[in-house]
Amino acid sequence: MTGKLDQWIDELGTIGGHGSTVNRFAWTLELHAANEWLLKRLLELGLSAEIDAAGNVIGRWQAGAGPAVLVGSHLDTVPDGGRFDGALGVLSALEAIRRLRAEGVQPQRPLWIAAFNDEEGARFDTSMFGSTAFVGDDLSHLADRVDADGLRLPDAMRQLGSDFTQVATAKGIDQVGCFLELHIEQGARMQDQGLDTAVVTTIVGIKGYRVVLRGQTNHAGTTVMGQRRDALIGASRVILALRDAALASGEVTANVGRVEVRPGGTNVVPGEVEFYIDIRTAKPETYATLDHLVRGTVVAAASLEGLTFELIPTYEHAPIPMDERLQQILGAEMAAHGLRWAPLSSGAGHDAQVLAQHVPTAMLFVPSQDGISHAPAEYTPPEQREPGVSVLTGVLRQLICEPADTAERPDGRRAAADDSIVRFSENDL
Ligand code: GLV
Ligand code: MN
Ligand code: MN
Repeated sequence: MTGKLDQWIDELGTIGGHGSTVNRFAWTLELHAANEWLLKRLLELGLSAEIDAAGNVIGRWQAGAGPAVLVGSHLDTVPDGGRFDGALGVLSALEAIRRLRAEGVQPQRPLWIAAFNDEEGARFDTSMFGSTAFVGDDLSHLADRVDADGLRLPDAMRQLGSDFTQVATAKGIDQVGCFLELHIEQGARMQDQGLDTAVVTTIVGIKGYRVVLRGQTNHAGTTVMGQRRDALIGASRVILALRDAALASGEVTANVGRVEVRPGGTNVVPGEVEFYIDIRTAKPETYATLDHLVRGTVVAAASLEGLTFELIPTYEHAPIPMDERLQQILGAEMAAHGLRWAPLSSGAGHDAQVLAQHVPTAMLFVPSQDGISHAPAEYTPPEQREPGVSVLTGVLRQLICEPADTAERPDGRRAAADDSIVRFSENDL
């Protein structure tokens, strides 16, 4: 039984989509249309639903009493992303709620669903914007973020009828007891091990940086090779050095996926390069060293090539374990369904790691075909979606049919998060 899920995947995939390629970014008409589509589905199911001040779609099955069980994921994508990252989690949650209502389940507590805005941060490097607002963390430092066209975040929000100064009103965590997120694995471990589902144990820590290197724009043919201040050579040194450091550590991934070379002439020495670093590790002690590694690498490359630099942190999400009790509930449900399952860590970031700072949180994975994601080829066939939806439905049924566990302390911060924003410049040398 797949219920409505397959139809919904096809419908949603056409919003901002061409074939299997999907582009839905924060504060764009495409994501807005996807949010409106979801609002309609939620209202059809009989839930109350709204888009909050941070652009999150929140649906409420307001039954029983006590803190809500929250389930969901995100509808935004990376540039030229696929149909499944985030969307499968939202639509599986929708399908689970549809099944529970069709069964006539009488919840003892509220069941809410969220499609968090801007999990990917593709447009403004504002990763997990919506879930961060939902938990009540301050986002005012993002007011000067601009997109690739130079449009400021508050202006992009205004164009879609939202007000940056009101984002704090999206805080909803105080009424939530726990959070569950279904997601595609985004790796090939499940396929390799023949798993149907997996219980996530921990989520990787992530740091993002924007780097600008500046040298001297000059003539490609007349400038002596030994006397160039070529910003692209400096960026290349940083990219290779981070790759080598990550390889040597064995527990770090480093990625540069966006580079802008200025002025961009074939016969011009590049005077300025702007690029973006994403660096990750699951180990808290290594996570604490990433700023030092990145800064040291940029300083060394700039110095070797005679460049000046700006190094600006753009996002950071600490590594965090998932809740033990919810992991056990998920594993027991998978076993009860006779599924092949295993505990697995997540190398991808998720809204769950933001929620997990505040309430007991857990995730389950379904397989990603050939381990591909963040690409149009990301795919999970229908027969691999259903086990995840069945488990999610069963766990939600269990959670809403009993009073909240005493471990759920919606107002408590579960782990100390280091949310300081540090700016580095040449003065730090
Ligand atoms: C989100 O998909 C991330 O891991 O960056
Ligand atoms: Mn993603
Ligand atoms: Mn995702």
